[in-house]
Amino acid sequence: MSKEPDLFSRQIGRELSRIVFSREEIRRRVSAMALEISEAYDSDDEILILGLLKGSFIFLADLVREIQHPLQVDFLVASSYGNTMRSSGDVRLLYDPEASLTGRSVILVEDIIDSGATLNRLVPLLEERGPRSLEICALLHKRVAGLDREPRWVGFDAPMEFLVGYGLDYSENFRHLPFIGSL
Ligand code: IMP
Ligand code: MG
Repeated sequence: MSKEPDLFSRQIGRELSRIVFSREEIRRRVSAMALEISEAYDSDDEILILGLLKGSFIFLADLVREIQHPLQVDFLVASSYGNTMRSSGDVRLLYDPEASLTGRSVILVEDIIDSGATLNRLVPLLEERGPRSLEICALLHKRVAGLDREPRWVGFDAPMEFLVGYGLDYSENFRHLPFIGSL
């Protein structure tokens, strides 16, 4: 057994119901995704990884370190759930990436897709900037209907529970957990 049961019981035992994806499961899956991404692009593709903050920061950091292809990283910030567990449907871009998307092979990295409202709003906005291609890479996917464009890469299908850890928060807490748990 790893250190996870320690953290689980010492810090948050009363708040989390269970570990959904362990540190080791995540590590293996992220490596496999990075390999798939590396193989999907030609050597002349200029890859721009666009991380959706804040939720994707840990996933992105692990992912890019295993991608065997030159790339650049930038971030964007869309308005979040705030302190609730439900999507408001009102998605705003609070920080715009500085990098130009024109002619680049852009990969939008998202922590978790729930209602799809965030991506449905952001994808057309980014497409307007003329990337050579725009793909979505999501660690978790709840597979709720209503997504205009499916992600090309998905880490795991997520249960219909509120998940935290590995970047995902509830009211800004739990992002630092090395595993993904259910509240
Ligand atoms: P959507 O717009 O409904 O697809 O929601 C996407 C965003 O909501 C994600 O980027 C997360 O920030 C947040 N979110 C959705 N489901 C969860 C969850 O289970 N735990 C934590 N954040 C979530
Ligand atoms: Mg997010």
